[in-house]
Amino acid sequence: MVMPPAGRRALLKTLALPLIPVGAFARTGRQTPAAPDWVRRARAAIPASSSPFFQTGGIGPSPRAVIEAVAEQLEFQNRSPAHPDVSGPMARIEPDLRAQLARVFGARAEEVALTHSTSEGISIVAWSLDWREGDEVVISNTEHPANVIPWYVLRDRFGIAIREADLSPGADLVAEVRKQLSPRTRMVSISHVSRNNGRRLRTADCARLAALLRPRGIRFHLDGAQGPGLVETDFGALGCDAYSTCGHKWLLGPKGTGALFVRREVLEEVKLSWAGAHSHETMDYDGNYRLLPSAARFEFGTRALADFHGLSRAVEWLEELGLDRVLARTRDLTGYAVEAVGRSPALGLASPETPEDRSGILVVRLPGSCDAAALYPKLGARGILASPVRDPRDFRLSIHFFNTRDEIATALSAIETGCA
Ligand SMILES: Cc1ncc(COP(=O)(O)O)c(C=O)c1O
Repeated sequence: MVMPPAGRRALLKTLALPLIPVGAFARTGRQTPAAPDWVRRARAAIPASSSPFFQTGGIGPSPRAVIEAVAEQLEFQNRSPAHPDVSGPMARIEPDLRAQLARVFGARAEEVALTHSTSEGISIVAWSLDWREGDEVVISNTEHPANVIPWYVLRDRFGIAIREADLSPGADLVAEVRKQLSPRTRMVSISHVSRNNGRRLRTADCARLAALLRPRGIRFHLDGAQGPGLVETDFGALGCDAYSTCGHKWLLGPKGTGALFVRREVLEEVKLSWAGAHSHETMDYDGNYRLLPSAARFEFGTRALADFHGLSRAVEWLEELGLDRVLARTRDLTGYAVEAVGRSPALGLASPETPEDRSGILVVRLPGSCDAAALYPKLGARGILASPVRDPRDFRLSIHFFNTRDEIATALSAIETGCA
């Protein structure tokens, strides 16, 4: 049996503890309504939700349907991986998944490449230009390392300059990015939803930004690790040239699955830096080849098909629940959490207050000298999984539809107590 490391074991041991809200959140005298039946059924199907799981923004918990779909597909594949009766159906998994993701997230099937992570998509896009010394990329002050490190590497390899737009809550997206543009800007790469403060960029604002960038020949990439499954995500309506995302957070899919959407009109300009068998439509050994006419050209090599099948099942599972209902419940829970933080004498809100700009990523500003990294194990000891983010005084609760108001109240009171 594979055992977790000792520190994690101690944390896991606590996960079955009963949790009772204390402090300000228990004193409100308000009754939190019970979760509706469909949520209770869904929770029962997600093993990790037996304790307050607020880490979906880090790594999402899969429902049993997904875990079983992967296991069954692996079993099927390994009856005889090379037999046509097996390899034939296995070969359908990727095209079907591309079409499914395209349908659900507003893209065309030929605009979808399947990847293993958001980071993979970001790197494909980052390396798709022939960078020259002095070229510039604009990122923001709220990025995950996955949308920072590739630019550091390109800076060190090719001498590009990195500029940072201030996308703190309340800052105007288009105005702030515009301030950072110069004649040398070649790419804007920012998060659709910030993992540091939960701000989600409004679709209309992204479309306005796209309209500003396109005539200037500046490529527009969104890091959508925190998009699909958390907020409405319509690739076409966002207007960006490329959108990188993953299956292992809010979509509750297998770990190591993702997708990169590339606008059909710019496909030929998004140059390949890595290629291999799978990227091509035709080739010979005399030096000739033709790439696939779709974003599938960004894929190559032997692939984790059972995992991609699991991602398809995860999206299907969310659709069975009703994606709109899932997003609406997350919005409702977030509204509840924002109000609860507002009533707390000790806690502040680092996330946007306006419903249009917030997401289920709720970032709490801790009081005084309370340190988020020190708070993390204290909550863990109470069976509550949440996360520090970039600012040492910010602590993140990732609220998904399967969480409950009671869990939120419990977590907030545990944060107050842990900081007291
Ligand atoms: C905004 C953002 N981008 C990128 C990543 C990296 O995602 P992945 O592990 O899918 O590469 C994360 C992970 O938390 C993230 O929050």
